[in-house]
Amino acid sequence: MSTGRIEFSSKFGIIAATVGSAVGLGNIWRFPYEAGTHGGGAFLICYIFFVFLIGVPTICAEFTMGRAGRIGIPGAYRLGHSSRKWDFIGYGGILAAFLILGFYAVVAGWTFEYILESVTGAFRDTTSEIRHAHFEDFISGWRAVCWTILFLLVNAAVSLGGVQKGIERVSNILMPLLFIILIAFCINSLFMPGFGDGVSFLFHPDFSKLTPDVILSALGQAFFSLSLGMGCLITYASYFSDNTPLVKTAGQIAILDTLVAILAGIIIFPAVFSFGMSPAEGPTLVFEVLPGIFNQMPGGSIWSTLFFILLAVASLTSIISVSEIVVAFLSDEIKISRTTATWVLTAVTIVTSTLCSLSFGPLKSTNLFNIFDYVSSNILMPLGGIGVCLFVGWKMKIEDAIGELHQKTGVPMWLVKIILLIIKYVAPICILTVFLAGLL
Ligand code: TRP
Repeated sequence: MSTGRIEFSSKFGIIAATVGSAVGLGNIWRFPYEAGTHGGGAFLICYIFFVFLIGVPTICAEFTMGRAGRIGIPGAYRLGHSSRKWDFIGYGGILAAFLILGFYAVVAGWTFEYILESVTGAFRDTTSEIRHAHFEDFISGWRAVCWTILFLLVNAAVSLGGVQKGIERVSNILMPLLFIILIAFCINSLFMPGFGDGVSFLFHPDFSKLTPDVILSALGQAFFSLSLGMGCLITYASYFSDNTPLVKTAGQIAILDTLVAILAGIIIFPAVFSFGMSPAEGPTLVFEVLPGIFNQMPGGSIWSTLFFILLAVASLTSIISVSEIVVAFLSDEIKISRTTATWVLTAVTIVTSTLCSLSFGPLKSTNLFNIFDYVSSNILMPLGGIGVCLFVGWKMKIEDAIGELHQKTGVPMWLVKIILLIIKYVAPICILTVFLAGLL
C-alpha cells in the first residue's frame, strides 16, 4: 500500500536513525551513573532483562502503530476507528517531547563547551575542586544558554533537511563515527591498570544489592534509553517501508543500544578505578570526574575531546528524533510545512531550554530542569508506554497487528503471539507497577 508518505531510503538508514534515537545521553551519561550508584552487575542484569522482556515488545507495539497508520501521534491513536478518545495519549507524547527537548538540549549544549575546553586543554593541571567550581559556575551562566541555543540550531538544520536528506543522512554518517570512537576508547581501556576492577564491578552481580529501588531504576532506564513511551518510535516507523522487518529491527535496536551502554561502562569504570575515584559519583560523573581522569592520561586532551564529541553526536541523533515527533505532528495534523514546523518548534524550545538552563542559576527557585526531567521521564513516559501497549493490545484490530508483525515480514506466528501477549498483559502491568512505585 503506497500512501505517498516519505520513507527512509535504506535498511541501513533505518537502523542508523532508530539506533541513533536510542543511543544518547541515556547510554553514556545516565547508564554509567545509574549502574554506579545501584551496585553494578546486579543493576545490569535487571536492565538487560527489562530491555528484552518489556522493551522489545513495546518497541514492536510502537512500530506496529506507526507503520500501520503511516502517521505520527496523535493520528496513530485513531487507527481503525474514528473517535478521538485515544488522542489524549498522543498529546501527552507531544507534551513529553517538548519537556524532554527543554532539558536534553541543555545537557547537550554542555557537551559543546566541554569539547572546546578539551581542545584548548583547559582541564590540564586542575584539581577536582577547581573542576567542580568551574562546572557549577558554567552551568549557571549565560554561556551555557548560548551553547544550548547553538545545539538547537544544529538540530533545526538537520530537521529542515527532511527525513531522508536530514535525519537519515546525518545518522548514516554520525552513527558509524560514534561506534568508531567507542571502539577506540574500549581498546584504550584494556590497557588501564583498573581494567580488571572496572569490568568486574560492571559484570559481577552482587545480588544482595537487588532492592526494589534498583529494579525500578532499571526499568526506568530501559525505557528512557530505548526512546519508548512517547511516540518517538511510532513517528519513525511511519517512515518505514512495508518490507521493513519490525521485530528484527526492534531486536537490533535493543542489542545495539545495550551494547553501547555496556561499552560506556567498560570505558568509564576502568578509568574511574584506575584513578582511585568512586563509581557512585552520580550525575556529575561524566562532566566533573572524567575530565580529571583524562587529564592524567597520556594524550589526555585528545581523549577528552573525543569523549565529548561522542556525547555530542549521541545527543544530536537522539534530540533529532524527539523533535521529529513534534515536526511530524505539526505537518500531519496542523498541515503546516516542514520548514515552518521546524522553526515553530525551535523557537518554542529555545525559550523553554533557556529557562531550564537558567534554572541552574538566576532561576534556581523554579527548579525547571528537574521538573521537566521528572514529569517527562517519570510520569508521561510510563503512562505513554502503557497507552501504546493498551492501544495495540486491546483497541487495534488484532488482524492489523498480526499483519504488521507477522504477514509483512514472515516472523513465526508463535513469536508474534508471545509478543502480543506481553503487549497485552505483561508490559502494562509491569510499567504500571513501576509508575506507582516511582510516584510513592
Ligand atoms: N533514548 C535517548 C537516550 O538514551 C533519549 C531519547 C530520545 C528519548 N528520544 C526519546 C527518550 C524519546 C524518551 C523518548 O538518551
